Amino acid sequence: MPASIVIGTQWGDEGKGKATDYLADRMHFVVRYQGGNNAGHTIVAEGQTLKLQLVPSGILYTHITSVIADGVVVDPRVLLEEMDGLAALGIDPTRLVVSGNAHMIMPYHLELEKVTERFLGKNALGTTKRGIGPAYGDKAARIGLRMQDLFDEKIFREKLDIALKEKNLVLTKVYGRLPLTANLIVDDYMRYADRLRPYVGDTSKLIHDGLRAGTNVLLEGAQGTMLDLDHGTYPFVTSSTPVAGYALASAGIGPREIDRVIGITKAYVTRVGAGPFPTEDHGPEGDRLGERGREFGTVTGRKRRCGWFDAVILRYAARLNGLSELFVTKLDVLSGFGTVRVCTAYRADGEIFEDMPPNQSLFHRAEPAYEELEGWDEDLGQVRSFEALPAAARKYLDRLQDLVGVPIGVVSVGPGREQSLSVS
Ligand code: IMP
Repeated sequence: MPASIVIGTQWGDEGKGKATDYLADRMHFVVRYQGGNNAGHTIVAEGQTLKLQLVPSGILYTHITSVIADGVVVDPRVLLEEMDGLAALGIDPTRLVVSGNAHMIMPYHLELEKVTERFLGKNALGTTKRGIGPAYGDKAARIGLRMQDLFDEKIFREKLDIALKEKNLVLTKVYGRLPLTANLIVDDYMRYADRLRPYVGDTSKLIHDGLRAGTNVLLEGAQGTMLDLDHGTYPFVTSSTPVAGYALASAGIGPREIDRVIGITKAYVTRVGAGPFPTEDHGPEGDRLGERGREFGTVTGRKRRCGWFDAVILRYAARLNGLSELFVTKLDVLSGFGTVRVCTAYRADGEIFEDMPPNQSLFHRAEPAYEELEGWDEDLGQVRSFEALPAAARKYLDRLQDLVGVPIGVVSVGPGREQSLSVS
């Protein structure tokens, strides 16, 4: 059976958890492939609201095995807390398998991120301060500790000593902080090891065997295309690779296994943290989008910056990810605006750009060229079929589809499962 990928097409927070949840009925495996507990998925199902940061949203289903693949960075303390939180809600958290190759977030990653963000001052990236960047940095520098290291205390200690020696020098000599103590870290992580042992395994083989046995696999991205380390708005990006290609590298399966790449897009755009955002609306309409859409970060509670749908970044996301379809979320938020705006191209330095400008300076200076479309006043939350949407809302969706060049498969008009309307 083929595998599908769910990918954010903007700057994250597009509603990927909702899309995954919508598709989960047909899935046997839901695999998280990058990022860490910087992500936040909110799921509303059967009257329960669940906020997940690390555990894939498929955990709600008893028929699904949730997988955390090699390319994720795992804070074991957070993972255990999340598993305990699920158990407290009566949801079985034990159908989870974490790759032994996944790197761990260590206490010095959190400490270092705090001081380096402060050090950057007005140039700070506005990270989630979960240690994500420092953990991926150590992975690339080959001084990271992986989940499998938890189960050999001698190796764990050796690797920790190597990393901590340098980290403590930086913390004390550069930033004037106190050093961290290896013994305390070992004690904590060995406690995590005892509890996590049953959940760590070879996830690449598990997924591969699942595909050979005819089961369905959903590869779930975190963050979004514009936060991709290579293709996003560097340096205002995350330290992992959300684009669809990385789903395969992380899960450890080949490209021929994939048949659908589902791009999740809000009906407008939001961004948390610093960095360029051409269609950002600093006026009352931007505030209104934020209020109507309850645009506050799941992880940090920060207010999200809001703006209008940007077809330029969507075309870019369609190209980078090879999108087969769009899943449009939060259409209901756009009710009552009179007219709704869509950015069709950018203007910069006297030129028109229908595609992403070729360098960061042009993107920073990009002014959106807007098309105004007729709005609608109806509350969409009660709509239960695509055909029942107001004509103006359908026209808006048709225009998005034309501008992006990718068909819309599903439109969502609220947080509940029953509020996802499939487009036949
Ligand atoms: P980091 O991922 O914590 O290193 O943060 C880097 C940038 O990515 C910051 O601008 C964050 O606000 C942003 N970011 C990280 N995770 C998410 C997410 O799940 N949704 C939206 N923005 C995110």
